[in-house]
Amino acid sequence: MSLNKYSRTLTQEVSNPAAKAMLYGIGLTPEDMNKAQIGIASTGYEGNTCNMHLNGLSVHVKKGIQENGMVGLIFHTIGVSDGMTNGNDGMSYSLPSRDIIADSIENVVAAQWYDGVIAVVGCDKNMPGAMMAMARLNRPGMLVYGGTIRSGSYKGEKLDIVSAFEALGKKYAGTISDEDYEGVIRNSIPGAGACGGMYTANTMASSMEAMGLVLPNSSTYPATHEGKKEECLAIGAAMKILLEKNICTRDIMTRHAFENAMTVVMALGGSTNAVLHYLAIGHAAGISFTLKDVQDISDRTPLIADLKPSGKYYMEDVLAIGGMPAILKYLHSVGLLHGECMTVTGKTMAENLAEAPDLNFETQKIIFPITQPLKPSGHLQILYGNLAPGGAVAKITGKEGERFEGLAKVCNSEEEVIEYISKGDIKPGHVIVIRNEGPKGGPGMPEMLKPTSAVIGAGLGNSVAMITDGRFSGGTHGFVVGHVTPEAFEGGPIALVKDGDKITIDAVNNTLVLHVSDEELVERKKNWTPIESRFKQGVLRKYIKNVSSASQGCVTDL
Ligand code: FES
Repeated sequence: MSLNKYSRTLTQEVSNPAAKAMLYGIGLTPEDMNKAQIGIASTGYEGNTCNMHLNGLSVHVKKGIQENGMVGLIFHTIGVSDGMTNGNDGMSYSLPSRDIIADSIENVVAAQWYDGVIAVVGCDKNMPGAMMAMARLNRPGMLVYGGTIRSGSYKGEKLDIVSAFEALGKKYAGTISDEDYEGVIRNSIPGAGACGGMYTANTMASSMEAMGLVLPNSSTYPATHEGKKEECLAIGAAMKILLEKNICTRDIMTRHAFENAMTVVMALGGSTNAVLHYLAIGHAAGISFTLKDVQDISDRTPLIADLKPSGKYYMEDVLAIGGMPAILKYLHSVGLLHGECMTVTGKTMAENLAEAPDLNFETQKIIFPITQPLKPSGHLQILYGNLAPGGAVAKITGKEGERFEGLAKVCNSEEEVIEYISKGDIKPGHVIVIRNEGPKGGPGMPEMLKPTSAVIGAGLGNSVAMITDGRFSGGTHGFVVGHVTPEAFEGGPIALVKDGDKITIDAVNNTLVLHVSDEELVERKKNWTPIESRFKQGVLRKYIKNVSSASQGCVTDL
């Protein structure tokens, strides 16, 4: 087969005979020496359900690669599960893991000079990390999503990971028995797969399908569905086309492809984390994709999906209505998607969608027509104001209302929120301000699923709002504003808020206002001292030194 411009076969013998000798050493044959070499990056490991099956999927990918006349070489990178790290110190390592994944895939593929790269990914940070690496490398490549989890069940109620956190809130509120609490915990997560709502993993998976970086339906097949294995085996034929046509990642990751990805995030009610990640992926791809672009897309895209966390259905339910291809086909038919974008099938998005099924609005209740949306514009809103001069990201589905005014209850850490909730100190009308949880201060912008779930579980979901310089988990629902920039660690206005200050969150006018005079804020700033980071060495020390603001995607290579 013809090889692309990165082909190593022409050079490896003359430049480094040891490389060829080593390839014989790993068991390749003389015939193999003329084949394209494809690096298969797996974020698999045994310690959590999102990633536990990825090494197995990688073996199927390798088989498909070999069957199509290429050499597949599996290597591994890390993967941190937010489900495991939420609510503890480990969460500080989660967002940095995205950049370690990006760096490590870039490092191996560039060092080993692979002709192409396939990333097998399953959890929140795996996907953006791998996409960033692929954008930097700009070689033929694609991703395989590990697939969504099946829902759990207890006493006839469908469960997922958020059910476990919300059970904790009910425990604080005394509204669940010990037996039922244990029953929920034991049955929330029944096996392999990524968290089952339109949380961060499924948000990234759906949007990367909209970007054309995976085979059709990759984001829909549950992890344990036979279609997932078939997808892995089909990767080889697709990879061969990409190599023959020399279609590289940046040919797919165009400006319009970014718009398609963010449109799907908005239409499906996806996670705030997608904003952070697509800013970073844009940086890696050399595309200027900013908070303004996110707001523009939000303004023109209705929320049409009744998916968790704010809705009713799980990702596993989407397969039955035609899968992601049917949703993309609908969005394309109403003019919300760019059809000319190239995809990893070697065809355009519009060509792929021509074969997709149609959504049936008579029989399915997950996706609403754009003429009857759940919300006429996107649920993710970019807010600015004296509390967030560099921007903030709000997730407002409309169920909570679009404006909240209340009095600040300041928490200097996530732990303080839980303490206040358990003591009953959080009251209706409070705006819970969680600070020192930004990219540098957290560090790593720890996600706030535990506080938000505890608030919901305590029955305060409709009567309090939360703002933070950290992030909210994709599983969050309620009136929440994250990514407040600049962060408290750098002396941003969020550092100056005091208990009882009035705060207005306005998702109609896109403002976040602290009702304290400029003069008073100047006085408060004089008495402000930066917190000292606990991290004096190691990966988080490096992260604090290098990470950019949330409004710049928290990239580490600016
Ligand atoms: Fe991995 Fe949710 S924690 S997908």
